[in-house]
Amino acid sequence: MSTVVFLGGGRITSAMLAGLRLAKTRDRLVVHDRNPGKLRDLKKRYAVAVEQDLNSAVKQADVLIVAVRPSSVREVLRTLGNALGNGIRSIDRPLLAVSLAAGVPLRLLGKLLGPPLLWTRAMPSPLCRSGRGLTAVTFPRTLSRTDRKRVHDLFASFGQVVGIPESKFDAFTVIYSCSHGYHALATLARTGRAAGLDRNTALLASAHALADGIVAWRVGKDSLESLLEEAVTPGGIAAATATAMDAAGYGRAVRRGVAAGLRRARANAGK
Ligand SMILES: NC(=O)c1ccc[n+]([C@@H]2O[C@H](COP(=O)([O-])OP(=O)(O)OC[C@H]3O[C@@H](n4cnc5c(N)ncnc54)[C@H](OP(=O)(O)O)[C@@H]3O)[C@@H](O)[C@H]2O)c1
Repeated sequence: MSTVVFLGGGRITSAMLAGLRLAKTRDRLVVHDRNPGKLRDLKKRYAVAVEQDLNSAVKQADVLIVAVRPSSVREVLRTLGNALGNGIRSIDRPLLAVSLAAGVPLRLLGKLLGPPLLWTRAMPSPLCRSGRGLTAVTFPRTLSRTDRKRVHDLFASFGQVVGIPESKFDAFTVIYSCSHGYHALATLARTGRAAGLDRNTALLASAHALADGIVAWRVGKDSLESLLEEAVTPGGIAAATATAMDAAGYGRAVRRGVAAGLRRARANAGK
């Protein structure tokens, strides 16, 4: 059994803990956060050990998950560096560290806090809560196969894992967000209400419209092009709707949104 320590007990930590519990992980799970209320809640919901003291938390870690917001990474790593400098654990024992911080590159993490930490990055989503997540991982060239496998297996316990070169990590982060689905659902359902449907029917129709076809495409063998052709009768309602959406700048809106996300990721690297 090894001990996985989370620094930061917020949204993504909560989702990962749920996914790990669902998968009946044999790892010991420990969470450190500066908010005692969040720690109490996580302890109650996921039966994890909690540590208000950063030193005690890090002392126990075989794998460290850095799950604070990008703007907090510097502060946390500075405090952690001081703790390591004060000998809270043997410096000759490497510590596998996984940063979830969007946009913050490996070279900056290594600059902020070098050995004994061995840095990797991972990008999960809150969907890991259901065991159906997707996580991108990226490793430095020097990381051993054993350490790569350790990180891969941790995230594979709640969904699919894909290796992505770090140069493409921000693009993956922006495109792979379950918020795209929620955003589309909220927008389509709002429009359905404006068109006269009650809230529940608008949500039901929108959720089926957006999700079911995509799930069928994922599990089936048909190409996206053939499914689109099947669903859109020339001269019919779906064709009129999609054509008008494209003409109104649907593609442009998505491109602009993605460009803004990429700019945000680059700004995070400078924080
Ligand atoms: N949410 C997602 O879906 C998601 C998905 C993938 C990756 N990520 C990444 O994961 C990281 C966390 O995101 P999140 O949404 O989970 O953030 P969050 O909900 O804000 O959680 C971060 C937690 O860390 C705590 N914290 C910050 N600085 C700390 C410190 N010095 N010592 C102890 N605790 C500290 C925060 O406390 P305060 O509230 O007091 O600051 C907060 O409880 C981010 O870097 C994000 O890019 C998030």
